[in-house]
Amino acid sequence: MTSKTRQILVTSALPYANGSIHIGHMVEYIQTDIWVRFQKMQGHHCTYVCADDAHGTPIMLRAQTEGISPEELIAATDKEHQADFAEFAVGFDNFHSTHSEENREIAETIYKRLREAGHIEQRKIKQAYDPEKEMFLPDRFIKGTCPKCGAEDQYGDNCEVCGATYAPTELKNPVSAVSGATPVEKESEHYFFKLADFEPMLRDWIKGNHTQPAISNKVSEWFESGLQSWDISRDAPYFGFEIPDAPGKFFYVWLDAPMGYMASFKNLCDKRDDLNFDDYWKTDSEYEVYHFIGKDIAYFHTLFWPAVLSGSNFRTPTAVFCHGFLTVNGQKMSKSRGTFIKARTYLDNLNPEYLRYYFAAKLGNGVDDLDLNLDDFILRINSDLVGKVVNIASRCAGYLKKKCDGQLSANCSEPELYQSFVTAGEKISELYEQREFSHAVREIMALADKANQYIDEQKPWALAKENGKEQQVQEIYSMGVNLFRVLMTYLKPVLPTMAEASESFLNIEPLQWSDVSEPLTDHAINKFKPLMTRVEQEKVDALVEASKEDLKQEHDKKERKASTKNVDTKIEPIADEIAFDDFAKIDLRIAKIVKAEHVEGADKLLQLTLDIGEGTRNVFAGIKSAYQPEDLEGKHTVMVANLAPRKMRFGVSEGMVLAAGPGGKDLWILEPHEGAQPGMRVK
Ligand code: MSP
Ligand code: ZN
Repeated sequence: MTSKTRQILVTSALPYANGSIHIGHMVEYIQTDIWVRFQKMQGHHCTYVCADDAHGTPIMLRAQTEGISPEELIAATDKEHQADFAEFAVGFDNFHSTHSEENREIAETIYKRLREAGHIEQRKIKQAYDPEKEMFLPDRFIKGTCPKCGAEDQYGDNCEVCGATYAPTELKNPVSAVSGATPVEKESEHYFFKLADFEPMLRDWIKGNHTQPAISNKVSEWFESGLQSWDISRDAPYFGFEIPDAPGKFFYVWLDAPMGYMASFKNLCDKRDDLNFDDYWKTDSEYEVYHFIGKDIAYFHTLFWPAVLSGSNFRTPTAVFCHGFLTVNGQKMSKSRGTFIKARTYLDNLNPEYLRYYFAAKLGNGVDDLDLNLDDFILRINSDLVGKVVNIASRCAGYLKKKCDGQLSANCSEPELYQSFVTAGEKISELYEQREFSHAVREIMALADKANQYIDEQKPWALAKENGKEQQVQEIYSMGVNLFRVLMTYLKPVLPTMAEASESFLNIEPLQWSDVSEPLTDHAINKFKPLMTRVEQEKVDALVEASKEDLKQEHDKKERKASTKNVDTKIEPIADEIAFDDFAKIDLRIAKIVKAEHVEGADKLLQLTLDIGEGTRNVFAGIKSAYQPEDLEGKHTVMVANLAPRKMRFGVSEGMVLAAGPGGKDLWILEPHEGAQPGMRVK
C-alpha cells in the first residue's frame, strides 16, 4: 500500500491561559496527538500546532487578583501547560500564544480585509457596566438571583440550579462579581462581523462533509434560527489587541483565538525550511487543515471561523472534528468528590500512558460524552496492556536471551500467522484514520489474544525440556517477539513511550507503520525490562485524595493572599482634574472601625461598623483581599460620609472607606506604618 504523501496541519483547541489543564482537556489533546502520531507513522508530512489562549476579561482580572501583569500570568501558565502536555507525550510541533506578534499581524490583516470587503458594521449597544470597577461586565461576571427559580448567586447567563438561560438584565438583585457593586446600563460603540453575509457560503461548506453528521445537523438548526451579526469588539480595560483605527476598542478574545492556530503555524514556518505558510492557507491550497475541538465550541469553529477565513481570502478547514465531554464515574467532574483531576495531580500519581490508552479505548469519531470509570480503568489497563501485550514480550524474552544470546531465528516459522497480523493492519489503519480509536484498540487486543493463544498452543516451555528441540523453541519464541513487534507498531500512536521502550528492547530503529511488512529475523534483541507495570488501586485512591486536597489548597491560597502584605510602590497616574466645587462636596471623616465581619457569600467584601462621632455607619468595603476582619477592628480610617446610601446584594452600604494601593492584597487603610505611601491614589 503506497499512497501519496499528504501535507497535513492539525490543531487542538487553545487552552485558556488562566487555569490548569485537567483530564477533561486531556481527552482532546490525547485524541489529537494519537491521530497526528498515526499520520506521521504513515509517512505523511503532518504538523501539529497549538497555543495558549491568552486574551480576555478573566485573564485580565485573574492577573489583577494575583497582583501580577497579564504578561506574567500567561508566561507562568504557558510553562505549566507545556510541562503537563510534554509529560502526557502530547507531541506538538509548536506551542505558541495568541498574545504574540504573529497573531497581532494576522488579526489585523484579517480584520482589515473583512472591513474593506464591507463585512464589518458599527453600532451602539447598551451593556451592564460596573461603576465601581469602571468596566463593562461580561455575562459571567454578573451574579444575582435566578428569575425563574429564585436560586441565589447565579451567573448572568444561566442558572446552575434550574438550568434556565436568560439575559443578565433579567437577574434579580444583580451585582458585579468583580466589585460587588450594582451594575448600571451603559452605552458604547461596538464592531460587528456580519455573519449573515456568509450564509450561502456556509450552507455550501456544511454540505461538503467538513463536519460530523451530528454537527451538520446542529449547524442547520443554527441557520434556521438566523445568523446574527457577531460582536467582535470590547471596551477598555481589556487584555487583547487594540482594533486598528479604533482607540480604546479591543478584539474580543474569540476573534483572535482561532487565528492563534495560524499564528502558531506561522511562528513554526519561520523556524523550519520545510513549511510554507501560504502553501497551507491560500484559498486554493491542496494541503489539509484539521481542527480538533470539544462540542462546546462548535459554533465558533463551524460558523464564525470558516466565515472569517472565507471573508478574508484564506482557505477554510478541511474538517472540524468534535468530541464529547469527559465524565468521571458517570458524573460531571467534581471537586468535592475528588474527580476534578488536574493533569499535574494525575502525573504525580499515575503513568500518563494508562490514561492515553484508556481514552483511546473509549473514543469513537462521534460527539458522545465519554466516561472515565476508575474501577474499569484499573481492570482495563491491567488486563489489556499488562496482561495481554506486555505478557507476550516477557514470556518470550527470557529464553531467547538466556539460551540464544538474544538471537531471533533465521526465518519466520509461521508466515501465515504473521501475514494475518500484517493484513489486520490495513483495517486498523483505516480505523485510526477515521478516528475510530476504540474500534482500532479492540482489533489490536484481538490480535494480542491470538498471539498469546499461539504461544499457549505451542507450549515452548514444555518443548524446551526435550532434547533436540532448541531450534523449534527458538522459532516459537521468535515468532512471539515478532507478533509483539507488530502489536507495538499498531499501538505506537497511543503509547509512544512504551513503544520507545519496546524499540530499545527489540534493538531497532523507531517503528514506522510500513515496517511490519517484514518480520525481524536473524536479529539480536536486548534484555527485557518491564515495559509497563500494573495499575495499583492505592495509587488511584491517592489520586482522588490528592484531587480533594487540591481543592483545599486553592482555598488556603486565597486565604493566605488575604493575610500577607508586601509593599508595592507602583504609583498610578493622577486622574483627570476636578473642580474645587466637586471636591468640596465630599465630606471626609475620620472613622473608627468598631466591628469588621466576613460577608457570607462575598469574595471581596467585609462588613464594617464605623464610629464617626455622631453614631455608627454600616459600610461594605472591598478590602477583604488585603485584611482579615480581626486586623481591622480598632483601626482608624477616612470615610466618605456623605455618599448616597447604596443598596448592595448583602445590605445597604452607608458610605465608603478610603484605602490606598493598587488593589488586591496591596491595599492599606491610612496608617503610615501599614504601608500607604505618599503619591498613592486614595480609593
Ligand atoms: N480557549 C478556548 C478555545 C479556543 S480555540 C481557538 C477554550 N479553552 S478551554 O481551555 O476551555 O478548552 C480547551 C478544549 O478542551 C476545548 O476544546 C474544550 O471543549 C475541551 N474541554 C474542556 N473540558 C473538557 C471536558 N471535561 N471533556 C472534554 N473536553 C473538554 O474553550
Ligand atoms: Zn434557577
